[in-house]
Amino acid sequence: MDSITLKRLARMKREHQRIACLTCYDATFARLLESAGVEVLLVGDSLGNVIQGHGSTLAVTLDDMVYHSACVARAISAPLLIADLPFLSYATPAQAIESARQLMGDGGARMIKLEGGSQVLDTIRLLSDFGVPVCAHLGLLPQSVHRLGGYRYQGRDAAAAERIRADALALQQAGAELLVLECVPAALATELSQSLSLPVIGIGAGADCDGQVLVLHDLLGASVTGQPRFSRDFLTGQSHGLRGAVDAYVTAVKTGTFPGPEQILF
Ligand code: KIV
Ligand code: NA
Repeated sequence: MDSITLKRLARMKREHQRIACLTCYDATFARLLESAGVEVLLVGDSLGNVIQGHGSTLAVTLDDMVYHSACVARAISAPLLIADLPFLSYATPAQAIESARQLMGDGGARMIKLEGGSQVLDTIRLLSDFGVPVCAHLGLLPQSVHRLGGYRYQGRDAAAAERIRADALALQQAGAELLVLECVPAALATELSQSLSLPVIGIGAGADCDGQVLVLHDLLGASVTGQPRFSRDFLTGQSHGLRGAVDAYVTAVKTGTFPGPEQILF
């Protein structure tokens, strides 16, 4: 695989080639995902849930993120490595700059991701001005779970959808170069994927985004505490092991067969 640049992802969007993204937290899986052709590896703060056993992402520290990002970075060469800025590590632009320095400088990330809309616009402008590629994240924002009142779909009424539309455009104008849309109605995600120039990566956001992302453990059916309904277990029932499961995911994303109707809730 050639090195995956943001330019390459933008070209994939223009050429309607779907982008396969997965979360990753360690070197062994990083090598497996690279060999299966996963273009984007996200060291997500979902590691608070799947690695650390918390009920949310709120306890994850910047040190945790740097540690896992470095574990992944040393194992891969081609995939684009994105790392999440954890809860309250970017509450001021100055703090965001220092946090991004650690994730990229010490953690080896090539892009950072942060959650939110209007409250992060100045921060995104500053980061991108100083050479930090930014992935934005709208819809269900796990770091805001206590304000949202739970993990639920966002943008389901006209006013909420309109806020997401306006935020997405503003984020792109501020310099975001990728957007994760989590748990929004498929029609809204389709519309945004078509109207925005940046690639849109969906999770629980229908089949017509420019790419898809899943939490690795969900794809492997390993989440005994409950598989999200928008994800699919690609491991059970096939005979090629972990690599077979990841291959099946990549193929399903590339051919547009994941998510299927049973994963599309709204
Ligand atoms: O932390 C994470 O895994 C994420 C993805 C679900 C997009 O942010
Ligand atoms: Na995250």
